[in-house]
Amino acid sequence: MSDTTQILNANFTPRIFSGIQPSGNLTLGNYLGALKRFAQKQDEGIETIYCLVDMHAITVWQDPDALRRQTREAAAAFIASGVDPAKSILFNQSQVSAHAELAWLLNCVARLGWMNRMTQFKDKAGKNAEKASLGLYAYPALMAADILTYHTTMVPVGEDQKQHVELTRDIAAKFNHDYGVEFFPAPEPLIDGPATRVMSLRDGSKKMSKSDPSDASRINLTDDADTIAKKFRKARTDAEPLPETIEGLSERPEARNLVNIYAALSEQTSAQVVTEFAGKGFGDFKPALADLAVAKLAPISDEMKRLMSDVTEIDRILGKGADRAEAIARPVVEKTYDIMGMVRSR
Ligand code: AMP
Ligand code: TRP
Repeated sequence: MSDTTQILNANFTPRIFSGIQPSGNLTLGNYLGALKRFAQKQDEGIETIYCLVDMHAITVWQDPDALRRQTREAAAAFIASGVDPAKSILFNQSQVSAHAELAWLLNCVARLGWMNRMTQFKDKAGKNAEKASLGLYAYPALMAADILTYHTTMVPVGEDQKQHVELTRDIAAKFNHDYGVEFFPAPEPLIDGPATRVMSLRDGSKKMSKSDPSDASRINLTDDADTIAKKFRKARTDAEPLPETIEGLSERPEARNLVNIYAALSEQTSAQVVTEFAGKGFGDFKPALADLAVAKLAPISDEMKRLMSDVTEIDRILGKGADRAEAIARPVVEKTYDIMGMVRSR
């Protein structure tokens, strides 16, 4: 952390915020890169706020019934992964209008040149950028609003979101500078552990993603034990045995990915895993990995099923979370309007 960030952030109560899009089945990548860490953070004495970002999800087409189901399923995945709604604030974004309001205000602070550098937009819009929604382009400013409306200081995310958190810092700094205030903190991305970027099981150069057309490329949190075992068995690898040290994995992305997954699931470092399996082939390593993954994920998918049998309870939890979120976010948005010179007379 730079000195100036440290001095600015010292004025703010430490607070953690993160979000996940309810745009499909959550994957092992979401679990290791996000959910598992979200649950750990809630016991560190810092307020934790977790959001199902349904307004981000609609930047690409979502079938309305599917979006409703996926939002509840994602809430179930949070809870099943250990996020406790009594300890953390858990809610869906569209129920707290502060996000949309602050996003507009920040749209007027963010610069086109900054938005044009966002690699996730380029990846998602692809060659047909003319046909992408305006929302997909403005998405990072909404994400900045999500973070800043809670005066968030720390944002646990996977590696792919680092650029968006850095943009958030730029937007906060420009706002503070232009209006001569120290109103927004400079949130830090928290990217740690062996699984900040879990890769596809079919292609070690692509991240594991819920939107990949190939289901075999990912482990879904709703996959049953047989499916998990089969996907790991079929995961792409090379023919070499595992090396003696992790340096031996540097040119072997698929092998490295499986070792990292094993490390994250077993709470070890990748170096420890390599030491344990040195010289062993994938015929030994893959079944061990499949067993470990089933042991860790089966209770989560069972619990998700149980929670999904009572969506009224899930909706109640999200509504209550939204009330708590609103209580923090509303005054920040009101103050932002005021700083920018909007008359507030009711
Ligand atoms: P998304 O599914 O894009 O909404 O991502 C939600 C969270 O999961 C973000 O913090 C991402 O960085 C994280 N995440 C998504 N995919 C992966 C992956 N393959 N490896 C690690 N983290 C991931
Ligand atoms: N953009 C994130 C993703 O695709 C999701 C997200 C939206 C988010 N708002 C956020 C993550 C705020 C952290 C903080 O993964």
